[in-house]
Amino acid sequence: MNAISLAGVRKSYGEVLAVDGLDLTMEPGRTVALLGPNGAGKSTTINMLLGLTRPTAGEVRVFGRTPDDAVAAGDVGAMLQEGTLIPELTVRELVDFVRRLYPDPLPLTELLRVTGLTDLASRRADRLSGGQAQRVRFALAIAGSPRLLVLDEPTAAMDVESRRTFWQDMRAYAAEGRTVLFATHYLEEADENSDRVIVIARGQVVADGTAAQIKADAGGTSVEFFLGAQPAARLDALPGVTGVTILSGRATLRTTDTDATVAALYRATTLEISDLRIHGADLEDAFLALTRPSEA
Ligand SMILES: Nc1ncnc2c1ncn2[C@@H]1O[C@H](COP(=O)(O)OP(=O)(O)OP(=O)(O)O)[C@@H](O)[C@H]1O
Ligand SMILES: [Mg+2]
Repeated sequence: MNAISLAGVRKSYGEVLAVDGLDLTMEPGRTVALLGPNGAGKSTTINMLLGLTRPTAGEVRVFGRTPDDAVAAGDVGAMLQEGTLIPELTVRELVDFVRRLYPDPLPLTELLRVTGLTDLASRRADRLSGGQAQRVRFALAIAGSPRLLVLDEPTAAMDVESRRTFWQDMRAYAAEGRTVLFATHYLEEADENSDRVIVIARGQVVADGTAAQIKADAGGTSVEFFLGAQPAARLDALPGVTGVTILSGRATLRTTDTDATVAALYRATTLEISDLRIHGADLEDAFLALTRPSEA
């Protein structure tokens, strides 16, 4: 049985088509990143999975049930993009209150320990820094030991160190056979912390695979060098080259065969080039290429 399935799911808010025909299934035990620019439809998709919004058309299933039933059964934990913590309570009180709502919660001490909140347990939850509050939200999300954990931009308010710790904690949680779906704009986060990356833009899936596959699909590497004022004719005819850009005297050749391109650059041209660098396609390039509106 799939952890998540979306079949022909659409969601419109009046004129705005936020989600435009999603067909997706996710197996249990995997960690999936939902990557996409602002307004792509990530939060809308997540909110439908949690039963917080209903699709305009199509069907959403979580462990074979409706989102409402799955949530009621304690199978789903979530960390949402917005949401304030209940004021007046300490971190310990709040976390304990929420864990008691679930049939089979994690023990309180363990929950505070794995989320790094032990030292903050007596602090009022509404007097935390942004990153600390995110840790509390994470604790609330895993309090019921859910089979599916859904995280909407979980590291948004975190500094570099908190991020690293957070992803370690998340991966430890996922390693116990849980399913995790997280939304992010951070390409490295998707690359480093998921088995599968689903890129969405304008409410549609534009790529789906491992980070490595997405990089490969977006094509090749680039060779960059200083050309100065020399005429750059015929660079696009070199072997492997799929695109040429020249900016302030620096040429960038996109290529599917770095070796052939560089060899020909030296052998077959009389150009005087300097400061040659080779870059692997990174996920960032892939992402921008995939989500650029002109390529819709
Ligand atoms: N409640 C709403 N009413 C009207 N339009 C909405 C509502 N929620 C979202 N939208 C619109 O739906 C589209 C998708 O929004 P969504 O929040 O799902 O994007 P997102 O991928 O989560 O973006 P971000 O990265 O900024 O969080 C956007 O155009 C947004 O303006
Ligand atoms: Mg969002």
